[in-house]
Amino acid sequence: MQTNSAKSSILVSTPVLSEAGELYGKHGLARKTVVLFDDNTRKLFRDRVIGTLEQQGFRLLEITVPARESSKSFKAAYRLYGAMIEAGVDRSWNLLAIGGGVVGDLGGFIAASYYRGIPVVQCPTTLLAMTDSAIGGKVAINHPLGKNLIGFFHMPEMVLIDPSFLSTLPEREIFGGMAEVIKYGFIADLNFLRWLEQHFDRITSLEEPFISEAVRRSALIKADVVEKDFRETTGLRATLNFGHTFAHGLEKLAGFRGIRHGEAVTIGMACALALSHRLGYLDAADMQSGLDLIARFRLPAGLVNKRFLAHRADLLFENMFSDKKKLDSKLRFVLLRKPGEAFLLEENVEDLAVLEAIEEARKFFSTRTKR
Ligand SMILES: NC(=O)c1ccc[n+]([C@@H]2O[C@H](COP(=O)([O-])OP(=O)(O)OC[C@H]3O[C@@H](n4cnc5c(N)ncnc54)[C@H](O)[C@@H]3O)[C@@H](O)[C@H]2O)c1
Ligand SMILES: [Zn+2]
Repeated sequence: MQTNSAKSSILVSTPVLSEAGELYGKHGLARKTVVLFDDNTRKLFRDRVIGTLEQQGFRLLEITVPARESSKSFKAAYRLYGAMIEAGVDRSWNLLAIGGGVVGDLGGFIAASYYRGIPVVQCPTTLLAMTDSAIGGKVAINHPLGKNLIGFFHMPEMVLIDPSFLSTLPEREIFGGMAEVIKYGFIADLNFLRWLEQHFDRITSLEEPFISEAVRRSALIKADVVEKDFRETTGLRATLNFGHTFAHGLEKLAGFRGIRHGEAVTIGMACALALSHRLGYLDAADMQSGLDLIARFRLPAGLVNKRFLAHRADLLFENMFSDKKKLDSKLRFVLLRKPGEAFLLEENVEDLAVLEAIEEARKFFSTRTKR
């Protein structure tokens, strides 16, 4: 199950599930599938998905969880194991997760553990899931003491991406996912970054072929990075966390409420651009062009004010450390050398430089995001 190449298993097309039967055959998967939805994706896509699969001779068990982060819990998993056991699901079955990162992570977790592991196929329906969470095989549930702490590396057999599923996604979720898309340009691919700058509005309004191309290239960059550093040993996979050290602090500061992950990443990337410049890696013009791109995100002014500008820089800084702050704990920063080229900084960074980078980003947001 783990030998699958991440890149070759990703398919972006519309309507992707009409080819499912053939694809399952090619990948040696039985047409016996547990289909996991959340209540939104069930409402939106159930008829389309189930009809298409039944026509192709699939035997199905449908299971659903509430559409919320707290569904990534042991309690939810335990309930679903029960439904699967009662329905006679055994090792010969597989699981298809239809939804955002919550459904993908929970579905992957269940698949990795049920009967010591059954194959999982990811069918992501949010922009974040299509470009990030469904790729790379990290699956997890939350623990009351922290997010994503209990999980596995369980590569999906396939990632079936149908960008037309995005048409019902709220704008806020589109921009949240777009933050990760831009991130791939920043860390790995200057051409892609320039292309994103050029077509930003077409992509965020889901125009074809731009949205499909943005999804495909993002998913492939993530898969490529994951393939080269599956267990995060060389520092390469860590570059996927560009902007995230700051973003996690913002999310924590907000008590994980009222700010989407992608919104925190958008602000976090501005801080990371400023830090890259302040430490002498990124020149001023490249920082500015990065910030200009970030300025195009429609972050609500109220959100920026309440979740970022209202707090002092040192409060955000404190929240960037993990809960169990050890004496020797240090923050890990991913920085840019140039647009399209990121690295994980090994040396310690002076607190002052981090605080100044946050101040720089505050200045930028207080002047640029007024609507
Ligand atoms: N495994 C990884 O590598 C990885 C990476 C990043 C994030 N994550 C996880 O992903 C989760 C966040 O994922 P997310 O942002 O996709 O959130 P989500 O799964 O909560 O989805 C957001 C909302 O959109 C709804 N939705 C989904 N598809 C829709 C559609 N097409 N139209 C309308 N509504 C739709 C969902 O029901 C939900 O209400 C977090 O739990 C995070 O920890 C995992
Ligand atoms: Zn992220």
